[in-house]
Amino acid sequence: MTEPAIRTETSVSQLRCIGCGRTALPDRFRCEHCRDLLEIVYPGWEEGGPQGLSSRALEKLWRERAASFDPADQSGVWRFREVLPEIAPSEIITIGEGNTPVYELPRSAKSAGIKHLVAKHQGMNPTGSFKDTGMTVAASFARQAGYKWVACASTGNTSASMAAYAARGGLHSLVLIPDGKISWGKLSQSLDYGALTCQLKTDFDGCVRVLNEVVERMPVYLLNSVNPYRVEGQKTVAYELLEQMGWQPPDHIIVPGGNLANSSAIGKALREMNQLGFISRIPKVSVIQAQGANPLVRTIRETGGEKLIPVHAETMATAIRIGNPASWKKALRVIRETGGTVEEVSEVEIAGAKAEIGAEGVGCEPASAVTLAGLKKLVKQGFVAPHESVVLVLTGHVLKDSDFTLRFHRGDLFEGTPHAAEAGCLKSQQRTPVVLEPRVDRVIDLLRSAEP
Ligand code: F0G
Repeated sequence: MTEPAIRTETSVSQLRCIGCGRTALPDRFRCEHCRDLLEIVYPGWEEGGPQGLSSRALEKLWRERAASFDPADQSGVWRFREVLPEIAPSEIITIGEGNTPVYELPRSAKSAGIKHLVAKHQGMNPTGSFKDTGMTVAASFARQAGYKWVACASTGNTSASMAAYAARGGLHSLVLIPDGKISWGKLSQSLDYGALTCQLKTDFDGCVRVLNEVVERMPVYLLNSVNPYRVEGQKTVAYELLEQMGWQPPDHIIVPGGNLANSSAIGKALREMNQLGFISRIPKVSVIQAQGANPLVRTIRETGGEKLIPVHAETMATAIRIGNPASWKKALRVIRETGGTVEEVSEVEIAGAKAEIGAEGVGCEPASAVTLAGLKKLVKQGFVAPHESVVLVLTGHVLKDSDFTLRFHRGDLFEGTPHAAEAGCLKSQQRTPVVLEPRVDRVIDLLRSAEP
């Protein structure tokens, strides 16, 4: 491995520490003075907006690009390039990320007790998760900066995404995942896209610890979500959502919380859109965690957000099985600035909500379903009023964890777990496959008995 030559000059964007405000070099992840995380800022915007364009001019330009055949214009991330760090067009690695649908969820709205509910489905990205929107920017930066190797620790989706973008961009990739604690579908993606894939005998937090040392010693570019370029790409989901809503902000945006970069990215975009005049009101951003992986919930409830309380994480929603989230300070700032909140949901609540989203013909992976389960609680608490508009951010595709889905419908998901008794309430949602003799009358009998 040779040392990469950093060739990037940043003229418009800068890396700035979220703690002490000092600027940092473009390939760093933490402040050299206080070790806090970095974020990308655009000092040039102060003189007349991104590239001197008004919000109205940008809205028009971005809509027009959607009709172009240029790969960067067709990307639902690079379409918004005026609000992204500058990357040379020849270095952009895109596989058609973003441009994801917004679905109405009328039945889930009813069961949650509100009038109107939609889902922004980031699982409809090329590798099946929201990670692609950030990965296109950070992988492109890595290539532009001259790196040959990229790496991440992951609960499965980041690694699938990184492996794909590295392969498309001619980079090598190293994946560290917790052995036995990610879905097979996600592991298979990383293998198929050609990553050097290591299953470490530890959890996600352990993988992060190992990787942080590896990248200190080797010329490998870190593509975990502490990478500020990933956050920039991920923020475009909020620009795109607002565009789809005619720039009329919803009252609430609800996101799952794991390592807490996604909520940070969405909050950053809302702050920017407000500053740039796209919107005049900021939706409340609320973060939902699994009860067994709830460090942010505990941090806020027990310390008022003063000090992170890491936990030993355990949940079947393996994507968010994270006890020591890197971006907790960024997410906390978003919750405070937007007036959002945090909530935790049980394993059974997650499974029930996932089945409800599936029954709407939409579907998502377990980690995404915490949003609907959390919304139900927030409505009961009165934090979300029945007339308010809510957007759930669904982060992963239903096929990401088909093992979970099959076990749910067969009825053995909670067998032998402490949740077995509570899971009794899920029976009516389970659709067990029926095995029959290959006879017409048997199928017709079944059809008649299933008549609603
Ligand atoms: N939903 C899904 C499907 C995820 O894969 C993740 C995180 C999250 C939600 C949480 O997002 O970390 O930004 O708060 N997955 C990471 C991974 C950690 O490695 O794939 P977050």
